[in-house]
Amino acid sequence: MHKILITGGAGFIGSHLTRLFVRKYPGYTIVNLDKLTYAGNLENLRDIENEPNYHFIKGDITDLNLLRNLFSAHKFTAVLHCAAESHVDRSITDPLAFINTNVLGTASLLQAAKEEWAGDYENKIFYHISTDEVYGSLGETGFFTETTAYDPRSPYSASKASSDHIVRAFYHTYKMPVKISNCSNNYGPYHFPEKLIPLCIHNIINNKPLPIYGKGENVRDWLFVEDHVRAIDVIFHNGKIGETYNIGGHNEWTNINLVKELCRQMDDKLGRPKGSSEKLITYVTDRAGHDLRYAIDASKLKKELGWMPSLQFEEGISKTIDWYLANTEWLKHVTSGEYQHYYTEQYHKR
Ligand code: NAD
Ligand code: TYD
Repeated sequence: MHKILITGGAGFIGSHLTRLFVRKYPGYTIVNLDKLTYAGNLENLRDIENEPNYHFIKGDITDLNLLRNLFSAHKFTAVLHCAAESHVDRSITDPLAFINTNVLGTASLLQAAKEEWAGDYENKIFYHISTDEVYGSLGETGFFTETTAYDPRSPYSASKASSDHIVRAFYHTYKMPVKISNCSNNYGPYHFPEKLIPLCIHNIINNKPLPIYGKGENVRDWLFVEDHVRAIDVIFHNGKIGETYNIGGHNEWTNINLVKELCRQMDDKLGRPKGSSEKLITYVTDRAGHDLRYAIDASKLKKELGWMPSLQFEEGISKTIDWYLANTEWLKHVTSGEYQHYYTEQYHKR
């Protein structure tokens, strides 16, 4: 019976992970610690907020005293660490916010867990959720494996790479029972519309331009978010301590082809004439240091733990679009206020 501290549970992936654990493991106690930055939203958890095994605490993972108090009060047996600053474009504008939360925040969590567990690691797990972006950028061929050398190139990926190294340092130095997974790009419900897929869905609904960086030839490997959190569940329960697992969809798309697929499906669902959304595609100034291609080799996870993605991309995208069309209030709430300012700053200069 675990008492789990989930960090960043009000964000995109964190909310799916929290929902899965709260529902699937009623015997576990789940405490969600989230600072509720622009990306954290308690509306993402409305359907589980009254479950008896779920508790929310608003707080910052860089606040070591808060963490010490929480560990001491709740006697956590496990941490599922999702909280992070997660958007590459924001990391280009404000790198220090990423170093602070992703590096210092992760180190603070490890320190608080280490102090509380005090060398008694039986039935304890510190699970760090990370990204494939730590491996850098691929050329046209090849895949990232768990032994690919780290080569991060954006402030976001460098801060995540640093946090991965610190987690491993606690494993090697203090024998902390850690697990790490590095996943490819996620998509699905509750995805904040600063990222490519939800941003384009939102703009197509509102007949606004679809900004494609550079020539749209960059490649990403997309995985449905529920498949990601299913993989985390499997690794959490059956993965080996001290190991890293890559998680990916074997589902590579150039940005331009992906956006065209979105346009095709949305014309259909919105009853618009074929080809009308594609006319919104607008090529804009490229992202600085834009990584060309990410692609994950997830064969270790398949071979050792039997995990595979469950959804084909076209089906996952269709489910995702349907969710956004059915949740226009959610979209309205998250795109008011700060989002308008962000959007103007990011896109009007491109
Ligand atoms: P997100 O930006 O949607 O959510 C991040 C959450 O963390 C928010 O709820 C936010 O309020 C919270 N948070 C931020 N700073 C905090 C702080 N200092 N203290 C407490 N809470 C804080 O991010 P996401 O896309 O859900 O990503 C979650 C994790 O998964 C991140 O670690 C990210 O690096 C990793 N990841 C994301 C993807 C992806 O495609 N989105 C892919 C692979 C890995
Ligand atoms: P994003 O969703 O920000 O994820 P990441 O940068 O972590 O992979 O971007 C996915 C791809 O889409 C990436 O190659 C950048 C590109 N992109 C655009 O072309 N236009 C946009 O408005 C955004 C947000 C991203």
